[in-house]
Amino acid sequence: MLKTIAGMKDILPSEISQWHYVEKICMEVFKNFNYKEIRTPILEMTALFKRGVGETTDIVEKEMYTFEDRDKTSLSLRPEGTAPVVRAYIQNKLFNDQPVTKLYYMGEMYRHERPQKGRYRAFHQIGAEYFGATSPLADAEIISLISEILNRLDIKSYVFYINTIGCQECRPKYKEALKNYFSNHFDNLCEHCQKRLDTNPLRVLDCKNSKCKEIAESSPIIIDYVCDTCKTHHEELIKLVDFIKIPYKIDYRIVRGLDYYVRTTFEVKEEGGILGAQNTILGGGRYNGLVSQLDGPETEAIGFAIGVERLLYLLENISNSEYIDYVVIPLGKEQIDMAFKIATSLRIKGFSVDIDPRSGSLKSQMRWANKLGAKSVILIGENELKNSSYIEKNMETSEQKVCSINDVLN
Ligand code: HAM
Repeated sequence: MLKTIAGMKDILPSEISQWHYVEKICMEVFKNFNYKEIRTPILEMTALFKRGVGETTDIVEKEMYTFEDRDKTSLSLRPEGTAPVVRAYIQNKLFNDQPVTKLYYMGEMYRHERPQKGRYRAFHQIGAEYFGATSPLADAEIISLISEILNRLDIKSYVFYINTIGCQECRPKYKEALKNYFSNHFDNLCEHCQKRLDTNPLRVLDCKNSKCKEIAESSPIIIDYVCDTCKTHHEELIKLVDFIKIPYKIDYRIVRGLDYYVRTTFEVKEEGGILGAQNTILGGGRYNGLVSQLDGPETEAIGFAIGVERLLYLLENISNSEYIDYVVIPLGKEQIDMAFKIATSLRIKGFSVDIDPRSGSLKSQMRWANKLGAKSVILIGENELKNSSYIEKNMETSEQKVCSINDVLN
């Protein structure tokens, strides 16, 4: 039997109403904050992610699904949404429309990671990108938008971890300090981090290895190295965040696994123990240099992405109940024509309707109607057909009434 690829899942009809619910709430919040939807292809040139996400990131180094097109161009399934949205922003000159551009997206992303609970090879993100604003107000607005989504979904046990990781001016000094510090612990670092010391020492702060974690706990912290502009930006953001009244901690070791961030970075973690090891529900930050790095105009930007599968774990008590207005039951083959006509008329009037195509026993047809969550069933038997009528039974009250076929067909 052929199966899905490891780490990839079908979303079944029994689960879909939860997805629709999350998408609906997010779309309502995006509308409240004046974001417009953008949809980009799932396949992009590999160069976009190499230049956009960063050559030395785990994502680009070892997690992308990359293959050659027929003309030998290297293509990759998108591992994240920011680089494609930035590409679309530049290619379609969206910067000409308005001083600021606010976009959101929902879609599947692909990363060849080791699958476990909350970590998949095909997963969904709902994210937003805010282009053209330097002010910490944009950072605060993004954080406020996220907290609104989480609150409307009634998610409780979460905490924002907020940091600044400086800019091109001040971060090199911090990287140097980290490199010096970790070099003194070189032999105790994992093999991967020993290599990271040269390529990107910030990434050691993100390592899950217990020894590396322990060493990282006493490492220098970014706030002692940031320039005045980054420091002021961070302080002003925190003042605005205090106004929103969200559960947050300042964590100077949130560095994130993508290269494009400057100044604000943040993550939201679930702290109720439901998600286990993969408890980061979402992440984001500022990426002021990315648009120009991908050949667009100098543009400041900030954004975030939620992992939808992780979010859904936290929504278990949302009812999955689907319903249908009518199930039409022809009691014999002769009534099938009329069942079809009645169902068609009701559908055109806007009702949700299904017909049992088996014309089996009444008992099994009623069982099926119950399973579909039918509010009413329409029964058409021999006598009814003769009298141009049908019986409508309310499934909740069991009340029955005889109705005229002509009334519904007209
Ligand atoms: P990210 O932290 O790589 O950021 O991913 C965001 C979220 O996607 C994570 O917090 C997690 O919930 C979910 N996620 C990531 N990998 C997996 C996986 N393998 N399985 C299930 N869920 C996963 C970004 O992707 C940035 N583009 C966010 C951003 C937008 N920054 C600025 N704008």
